Amino acid sequence: MKVLILGGTTEASALARVVAESGIPALFSYAGRVASPRPQPVETRVGGFGGVDGLARFLADNRITHLVDATHPFASQMSHNAVAAADRTGVHLMGLTRLPWTPVPGDQWQHVPDIEAAVDALAGPAERIMLAIGRMHLDAFTRQPQHHYLLRLVDTPQAAIPLPHHTVTVDRGPFTVDGDRALLITHGIDRVVCKNAGGTGADAKLIAARELGLPVLMIDRPEPPPRQEVHTVDDVLAWLGHDADLGV
Ligand SMILES: NC(=O)c1ccc[n+]([C@@H]2O[C@H](COP(=O)([O-])OP(=O)(O)OC[C@H]3O[C@@H](n4cnc5c(N)ncnc54)[C@H](OP(=O)(O)O)[C@@H]3O)[C@@H](O)[C@H]2O)c1
Repeated sequence: MKVLILGGTTEASALARVVAESGIPALFSYAGRVASPRPQPVETRVGGFGGVDGLARFLADNRITHLVDATHPFASQMSHNAVAAADRTGVHLMGLTRLPWTPVPGDQWQHVPDIEAAVDALAGPAERIMLAIGRMHLDAFTRQPQHHYLLRLVDTPQAAIPLPHHTVTVDRGPFTVDGDRALLITHGIDRVVCKNAGGTGADAKLIAARELGLPVLMIDRPEPPPRQEVHTVDDVLAWLGHDADLGV
């Protein structure tokens, strides 16, 4: 058995830790979007594979038997590539995903299906917006240049931010409710825009927004590709057949 973990999430790191502790041979893969990714306790590679062909070749060359797609729920391209490469090579594939966030009483969420719809929904007078979507899709928001955008990014941006009015804060989760409440108040935020990432590392802003009575524009997840999926590291271990015999 040899496992390839497609990472870039808290869940992928948690899985790598347990897999390493269990002595299961494994490789970890980062896309390379972040300047200093978290070190992993298993051998790690960085960078794209080169589409489905490249991933299929990588799986074969490295004698991978099990592929765990623990990428972010919005990393749609990678997840589709994983399904196609696993089909082609006969490697077993499992998705490890976080459950999406769901609203609770007090939340004022407006759901939109994608980034473009979020941009459309921001038509109107200038607001102060916390745009918590990472750095990849900021260009789309140039269609609503009237707003002041608070951007929380993992790295100091190397390229110019395309938005005329913005503030950048560089920070990496997990975030706290106290910290996010203070951030929203300090920057006079009127509305939060975010992706429905799920999990506990980034939900502090939603709790803080609820407490402050702020609306949230929630970008819903893209449809996942057809594949098996579980939501916990233990379930992945069970699938690998290592839960019982390794005492995990
Ligand atoms: N999208 C988000 O909101 C978000 C948020 C937090 C973290 N992340 C993490 O950031 C990374 C990139 O996300 P994305 O949305 O840009 O992905 P994406 O659009 O689905 O993938 C684009 C390309 O990036 C490469 N790639 C993605 N994940 C990879 C991985 N783990 N290892 C090696 N190559 C990978 C692949 O290149 P090739 O075709 O060349 O193989 C893939 O086709 C992922 O690891 C994801 O977990 C994403």
